[in-house]
Amino acid sequence: MSKQTSAGYRDRFDQAAMQLDYTSEYNRRAMSGVRLPKMVRIFDTTLRDGEQTPGVNLSTKEKIRIAKALDDLGVDTIEAGFPAVSKEETDAIKKISGLGLNAEICALARSNTKDIDVALSCNVDCIHVFIATSDIHLKYKLKIKREEALEKAKHAVQYAKDHGVIVEFSSEDATRTDIEFLKKMHHAVQEVGADRVDVPDTVGVIAPHAMKSLVSELKKVTKVPISVHCHNDVGLAVANSLAGIEGGATQIQATINGIGERAGNAALEEIVISLATLYHINTNVDTKKIYTTSKMISKITGVPVQPNKAIVGANAFTHESGIHVHGLVANPSTYEAINPKLVGKESSIAIGKHSGRHSIKEKLREYGLELDKAQLQKIMTDVERLVAGGKKLKEPEFLALAYDALGETMENPPIQLKEFTVLTGLNLTPTATVRVEIDGEMKRSSKMGIGPVDAAINVLRSTVSGNILLKDYNLDAITGGSDSLCEVMIKLQNKDNNLLAIGKSVGPDIVITSVNAAVEALNRLCAKGNVKRNVKESEKKVEVKKDG
Ligand code: KIV
Ligand code: ZN
Repeated sequence: MSKQTSAGYRDRFDQAAMQLDYTSEYNRRAMSGVRLPKMVRIFDTTLRDGEQTPGVNLSTKEKIRIAKALDDLGVDTIEAGFPAVSKEETDAIKKISGLGLNAEICALARSNTKDIDVALSCNVDCIHVFIATSDIHLKYKLKIKREEALEKAKHAVQYAKDHGVIVEFSSEDATRTDIEFLKKMHHAVQEVGADRVDVPDTVGVIAPHAMKSLVSELKKVTKVPISVHCHNDVGLAVANSLAGIEGGATQIQATINGIGERAGNAALEEIVISLATLYHINTNVDTKKIYTTSKMISKITGVPVQPNKAIVGANAFTHESGIHVHGLVANPSTYEAINPKLVGKESSIAIGKHSGRHSIKEKLREYGLELDKAQLQKIMTDVERLVAGGKKLKEPEFLALAYDALGETMENPPIQLKEFTVLTGLNLTPTATVRVEIDGEMKRSSKMGIGPVDAAINVLRSTVSGNILLKDYNLDAITGGSDSLCEVMIKLQNKDNNLLAIGKSVGPDIVITSVNAAVEALNRLCAKGNVKRNVKESEKKVEVKKDG
């Protein structure tokens, strides 16, 4: 027996969790004597330090897409690149500067007039001037004395300021620089007009307590806002950035998903959410756009997000343990202190070795399925048998067990695909056309997409209903070679009641297999009779009369 229902605990969760006070009493007590800013600036360096991730090389088109997304996310500064690197890099920065975005657009430059001139030619709002200041960098890399570095920095900052731009100055390897020299550098650059001074932990060697004390020491001689820029070599980039704020910094340099040189930079999303939920400090970032931005950056850069990554990882709000799910259903705050909606995500239940009756029942509710006692017992026995044999149960496989227990078949599917074509090629926008029979009525339409699969799914969804969202698309190669079989899983959601449906298909052609999976998912969603379909009731009746 399947029944129309809401998506269960996730609906109840939303109302309750929005009212949560995230802060632990321990945080409150520890922070009570610390002077914290009300607002922190977010300086995004995804397009500069993030692009230094080994293996990442972005085209101008991709950089523009990312810059627009970062602007939409609400970062204060977009470091668009390092123009001295190449003509292509310069051109990309110029284009980003010309987009008219709200964010301040910045370019990186070494402390010499040549670099600054190229940066100026990009029409940026801000130039991020830097020079190494640690003895190890001065001796082995730059081969100059401290005084010379000081003069170069002063001259560079003055030169950039004379050209009317905002100047942010960084002492590269600051956390291995002699404190007296660092103070001298801060003093010198602000004297010639630096607007902000950044403290980079270039090789990720500082510990949070030391970062707090370094920034508070520097604050004694620094009148302009202090920023921190932390690398994640030992996994402390976010902790060190937050410690910098506790020490008196008011800006953090960070990247989406923490991508960057070596082990990466401080992850922007972790910083923004920590500031908001644990410190009660605002940023201009629209947190609800965090998850989609993270996914987009991962897709474009080709750098996957580890599943257990805080905030944006696939498992960040996924619960497997039956004990946890039981707690969640009773009161969301038991196991989810941060509302996933805050970052544009949704919590979910994974079915596995630790699942119990509660998890299985709640999981089925997401799909609008309600089973009686015997059916539930059958699924539980099946799940137990499969996972005991060491199998990792994927969502479509679990649902197949459920449909089986319910005795649901797809003998007379409401949606039948009669024709499908897709047009794709070089310099051509992929366009898919379908002829589908929906509840007996024939419909034909075309839609474009980023690729042929996207176009195909778009046209199917929109032809059936305006209320269907694509929640997940997963493609796996089953065998090797260009003639291999692929497996496609498509998860759709009915916008009206949040209920989900999954379709799965296996075949040699990615597009056709995707289409088959989409049709199955649409049929499952519509079979519940709760999707507003694009069928005119009057036309349907006429059809029925004719048949009769
Ligand atoms: O890590 C670093 O020191 C840098 C500077 C250019 C700020 O990326
Ligand atoms: Zn860096």
